[in-house]
This record gives sequence, C-alpha cells and structure tokens, in this order.
Amino acid sequence: MGRSAVVIELIEDSSKALFINLAGSIIREIERGRLKPGDRLPGTRALAQSLGVHRNTIDAAYQELILQGWLVAEASRGTFVARDLPDLGVRTWGPPRKSQTSPLASRAALTPLRFSDGAPDARLMPGVELARAFRRAVSAAGLKRLTGYGDPRGAPPLRSALARYLEAERGLTIDADDLLVTRGSQMALFLVAGAALQPGEAIAVEDPGYPLAWKAFRAAGARVVSAPVDAQGLDIDRFEQLLDQEPGVRAVYVTPHHQYPTTVTLGAGRRLRLLEIARRRGLILVEDDYDHEYRFEGRPVLPLAARAQADDRVVHIGSVSKLLAPALRIGYATGHTDLLARMTDLREAIDRQGDIPLEHALAKLIDEGDLGRHARKARKIYEHRRDLLAAEITAQLGDAVAFDSPAGGLALWLKVAPSIDAAAWAEAAERAGLLLSHGGQLRLDQSRPANAFRLGFASLDDAELRRAVKLLRAARPA
Ligand SMILES: Cc1ncc(COP(=O)(O)O)c(C=O)c1O
Repeated sequence: MGRSAVVIELIEDSSKALFINLAGSIIREIERGRLKPGDRLPGTRALAQSLGVHRNTIDAAYQELILQGWLVAEASRGTFVARDLPDLGVRTWGPPRKSQTSPLASRAALTPLRFSDGAPDARLMPGVELARAFRRAVSAAGLKRLTGYGDPRGAPPLRSALARYLEAERGLTIDADDLLVTRGSQMALFLVAGAALQPGEAIAVEDPGYPLAWKAFRAAGARVVSAPVDAQGLDIDRFEQLLDQEPGVRAVYVTPHHQYPTTVTLGAGRRLRLLEIARRRGLILVEDDYDHEYRFEGRPVLPLAARAQADDRVVHIGSVSKLLAPALRIGYATGHTDLLARMTDLREAIDRQGDIPLEHALAKLIDEGDLGRHARKARKIYEHRRDLLAAEITAQLGDAVAFDSPAGGLALWLKVAPSIDAAAWAEAAERAGLLLSHGGQLRLDQSRPANAFRLGFASLDDAELRRAVKLLRAARPA
C-alpha cells in the first residue's frame, strides 16, 4: 500500500492563519514518525477536499514547509517529506528507539554506507527478466490448475534446472530427485543439523566462521565446537586433534570454496584429507558453497561434493542470494539420499513447500540462459570492484593493514596491524557513517579475537567504494 494515504488532521488555533495551523499539523506528524522521509504528501486538491479548506491554504502550507526544509517538491511527481531529515526515533509503543545519530549529524551519518559481509549488488539484478518470468509463471495454465500443495522438495522444473546447472558448473552428477529447494541456504543449514544430529551432539565449524550457520545448528539442538582456520583454510591437523578430544562431534561444516570470512580456497591436499577423515570417522560433511559463481583467478575448483564417493555422507548447500539478491529466498541442498529425505521431512514440518511461482520463474531464468548471462556480467563488474577496493586500501590505509587480493568471492579479508584494535576502529567508523563487520564478531572462541575486517566490495559502486575507504581512513584510531 502506498504511504500517500496518511490522513492529516487539522488542529485549528484561531490566533494563527489557517495555513500555519496546517503546516504545524504536518510538522507534528513528521516528528511523530507518521510521515516519514520520502513519503508523498496528499495532492493539494485531495487534501483541500478532505479538510474542507481552500486549495490555496494547502498550497501556502506546503510552500512554507518547503522553505523550512521539511518538504520537497518534485516536478510532476508531487510533494514529499524531505529525505535528509534525521530519524527522530519516535514510536507509539515501547521505549523510543535510540537514534544512532544526533539530529544534527551529517548527511553521511544519516544514510550510512555499509561494507556488507559479501552481498551482491541488487541494483544489477536482472529485474526485467525475473519479472517477466514471474508473470508468466503466475499466469501459466499449469500453475492455475495447481490448487493443492506441491512437492516439499520444490517445483520439479526448478529442481531439474538446478540439477543441470550444478552438473555443468560444479561437476555434480545429480538429477532433480537429488535436490531439495529451500528458502535460502539458511533453511538448509537448519535442516541438515536437525536431520544429522541428535540433541547434544556436536558439529565442528570453521573458526573464524559464519555465525548464522552456528545459530541454525544451535537452534536445531546441536552443540557447536571450534575447528581453527589458518592461512590455508581449515587446519586439518588441528581438526583431527579436536575429533580425538571431542567424541561427540558427528558433523563438520565448511566453506571450502571461499572460506567465510577469510576468503581462502581450501587446497587439493586438505580437501582429500578432509573427505578421507569424514569417511573414516563416519562424519557428516556439510559444504556451504555460497558464492561459487564468483571466481576471478586461477583454474575452476570443484566442490568437495563433486569428489565424494557414493556413500560419503556429504551435503552440499547453495543459494541464489549472491547470484541475484538475498531478498529472493531460494537455496538448495543435495547429497546423501537418506539425509536429504530426513531434511525434506523436517522441511515439511515447518514449511509445506516453497514459493512455487518464484521457483518456476527461476527455473525459466536458468533454462533461458538469463541467469548465466547475469553471472558473467556481474563477475566482470565485481572483479573490477575488487581491484578498485584493493587499490584504494593500498593508497589510503598503507601499513595499518595487510591483505591478499581474493581469488574469488565477494569480500576481502583485511588484516589490521596488531597496534590497532579492529573493533574500536569499526566503532569509530560506525560513528562516521560506515558500517562494517570485524573479525571479533566472527570468532566462536572469543578469547582469540581476529583483528581484521571482512569487506564486501560487490554491493558498492566505484564512488561508494572510494567514499567507504576514505571514511575508514578518517575513522582510524590514533
Ligand atoms: C557463509 C554463507 N553461507 C550462506 C549465505 C547465504 O545465505 P542465504 O542463502 O540464506 O541468503 C551467506 C550469505 O551471506 C554466507 O555468507
């Protein structure tokens, strides 16, 4: 629903001109948060009619508020609440939300820049193609006949399209029946823990690692234990030691393609050892391949799942969050047949099926080559952004930091000199209007902080990247 429907009340004070009373009413609604920055005001004719006053009165009130900076007029579009007003933090119930910035804060602080942890640029999403595919999906005769529920594993055309895609791109020899479509990889992570582990059993995770995976595992009743990561990814020797010390570990969660957060690709030797250890010890191996499509350098590296043997208990998880946008909740899991069946049962218990029209639309995008074209285009743009970020860091931050340019993925792991506290730096950056995550937030074992930042470069364009690095430099603790 458009927000132009906000009803405006006119509180009359006969000692003042009518238009001043109206201007005062509008200011009050802005201060109360009922009219928000960017909201459209009613048209002068409609408001005059609803308040029973002359249209000139409305015009005069709007002009006054435009002069005062509360409103802006946009030619042929209408009158809007100014976008650069501070968040006044007002609400009807509960304590007022703390505004992160003072009302006098600069424009930069009002619309903070964010170094995501590796999000794509949703502005590049092939929206026209997706909208067309979605329209076709909702009006397709087949879908209209589908009055009941569908397959909890996901729409068959999407599972077929994904199977072909994963076979071509990732070397997985699977078909539609080997796939479970989920609402994002997050759901798949929750399901795999529920399917693989009894309450109290443990899953080993890379540390530093992906906190939302830990959250999903814990929510499913699992214990989460730390497996250290070094400069080459999961430290396999220490992983084996952990297994000797912690007999309750039944599964391991890894991001071997681009380790989250350090971006390192696990080498061939470690991959083989990991598969061999999992096989020998009967562990379930959960592979999260969240941004496989973005590889800028070197030869392609196929997932662990492509090397697994028929009875290895491997579950491979992916998502379209990095390929298109996290707003589209589509992920998938493939792997060991029994595990997948248990995950499907569990999925049905919390969500009978996915978003069928969206799944059909995505199948079309894959089948008609739109997704592949988008991936190729986005890859070029992101590679350029990675290089620009690397150049800006080198020019602006010098000795305060060190990094290796990532061979793939959508983020750069920026190590901070030991003399500087990355957490304090991130806090100062936030006050200056730049949000970013620091390594301390990504440690399971908080006693061993990681003095680093994970800087997602894909969601920012050139000008935004330059500004972000400048803000980071300006916020550097003395
Ligand atoms: C390690 C990792 N796995 C998975 C995902 C994707 O999550 P989802 O598919 O639920 O959006 C992300 C996104 O940030 C991630 O960083």
